[in-house]
Amino acid sequence: MGSALPERVLTNHELAEMVDTSHEWIHSRTGIEARRIAAEGEFTSHLAERAARAALDHAGREARDVDLIVLATATPDNTFPSTAVEVQSRLGIERGAAFDLHAVCSGFVYALSTADALIAQGLAERALVIGAETFSRILDWTDRTTCVLFGDGAGAVVLERAGGAAGASPRGVLASSLRSNGTHKDKLYVDGGPSSTQTVGHLRMRGQEVFRFAVSATVDVVETVFAKAGVTADDVAWFVPHQANKRIIDASAKKLGIAPEKVVLTVQHHGNTSAASIPLALAEASSDGRIKEGDLVLLEAMGGGFTWGASLVRW
Ligand code: UT7
Repeated sequence: MGSALPERVLTNHELAEMVDTSHEWIHSRTGIEARRIAAEGEFTSHLAERAARAALDHAGREARDVDLIVLATATPDNTFPSTAVEVQSRLGIERGAAFDLHAVCSGFVYALSTADALIAQGLAERALVIGAETFSRILDWTDRTTCVLFGDGAGAVVLERAGGAAGASPRGVLASSLRSNGTHKDKLYVDGGPSSTQTVGHLRMRGQEVFRFAVSATVDVVETVFAKAGVTADDVAWFVPHQANKRIIDASAKKLGIAPEKVVLTVQHHGNTSAASIPLALAEASSDGRIKEGDLVLLEAMGGGFTWGASLVRW
């Protein structure tokens, strides 16, 4: 595991000087106290590279051992080439494959499942799975309903074949479930893009509708991974959900029957960092000793599209 955050901390109090809001409103509605904002010239690829290097160090692996990079982001450095190949080149890797994966806030769960499937299929041996975002670049800083919610950051994991047949190892990704439903696409979107407007655009959201969906409709993927792995909520040691809003996380945990003390919460420090939020939370909870080898960890996310998904991981 590894993570990277920009140095600059933007507090709720500072935001209250920029738009008509208050620390009390933001904190009581979302749990967020502060978020990090990338510096000028600091791109998604820079955060991704730092997180990737930290993950390689932590795993005791060299960059040259990596033959797959799956980088989840909705805020790439450029329209193309992918941010993943930028990271690949900075790490000095000239073999294997690297690509970006776009599933917005569900990006890390999608990327982890994809890398796991590619390794299981024999297409790769050792992957860097990265979630990295600079959402500060697509926010409308005059819109108080969205600009107070998001932040920048990156997290990465090293995933490698454990030997034996696919699924033979008791550790790693035990089960995943991915979903999307594009009929909800106008509830959370960016109003620009290379083909439609030739601009980057700004994030737009119908917050309450996203909130309702995040709490109620995403239970299906968790039930699917529990059934696939033959476990129940009681077996879960740690619940590491996408960090969008503490109220969504609390309500989801309650609905799933997961005790509050098993929930990893980082939204207070980072805001919603989209695809980076789960690996940032995983990095924090593994480096401070909460998540231990053998623990059953449930990951769950929901985001623009809508997309949603869950993965069950034996640490
Ligand atoms: O990663 C997945 C994507 N994102 C999410 O999961 C976010 C999902 N949605 C949410 O987290 C919540 O819906 C929000 C935090 C965005 C909003 O919380 P809410 O409890 O649903 O508030 P609301 O939208 O119902 O707004 C309540 C009031 C409104 O005023 P009126 O109409 O009641 O007078 C808003 O205009 O709060 C007002 N408001 C604000 N006030 C102060 C909205 N934003 C702000 C703000 N500061 N920043």
